[in-house]
Amino acid sequence: MTKPLSLTQQVHQIIRAHLMPEDYAIDATCGNGHDSVFLARHAAHVFAFDIQKQAIENTRKRIHDEGLTDKVSLYCTGHQHLAETVPSQFHQRIKAITFNLGYLPGSDKRIITQAESTLKALHASLQLLAPTGLITLLIYPGHSGGDTEYHSIQHWLSQSSDPLQIDVIESARIRPGSPLLYVLQKTRFNNTLDRL
Ligand SMILES: C[S@@+](CC[C@H](N)C(=O)[O-])C[C@H]1O[C@@H](n2cnc3c(N)ncnc32)[C@H](O)[C@@H]1O
Repeated sequence: MTKPLSLTQQVHQIIRAHLMPEDYAIDATCGNGHDSVFLARHAAHVFAFDIQKQAIENTRKRIHDEGLTDKVSLYCTGHQHLAETVPSQFHQRIKAITFNLGYLPGSDKRIITQAESTLKALHASLQLLAPTGLITLLIYPGHSGGDTEYHSIQHWLSQSSDPLQIDVIESARIRPGSPLLYVLQKTRFNNTLDRL
């Protein structure tokens, strides 16, 4: 029997099908750099954010080892500052934005993404996205603080007037607190709210 793809693998599969080599992308939580490397392999340029110096250094090393340094701009700042940090000539030209929420694996588990800044970043992301751009949001309701963030995101999406197609992908083995993948894609029609 084939092993089901992990949610992270599904993020990569979805983005792979969506990104063209000339596109721009954002890694809103670069952590250990796995998503930044993936994006840099498939896009023209990646803007990568994290609040932890350790995460930025881990990502810097990983993209260097992969020969991708020229394709990634690293910012040691919160993703709530996306709009003022990504150069304005790229606004509305970003094809994919990844959020992998929670804490940095192998580091201090108390440093986690927070509902308020995540929502600010999501709001900014919608301004930066190209008309057919998408956002992937990997959410971990299972860790302390993760549940609050998850419910805030759900509430924000249910109130949003932005025309978005929203798909929710659950983990293969669903248990209380299992991670969830939300894929938000800009659309011309507002057909989303009944999905939540
Ligand atoms: C699950 S990890 C990301 C994993 C990463 N995408 C990878 O491929 O290795 C979540 C990261 O979000 C970062 N983070 C927390 N708050 C943040 C914020 N406001 N802005 C940007 N990054 C943040 C944490 O420091 C942590 O490194």
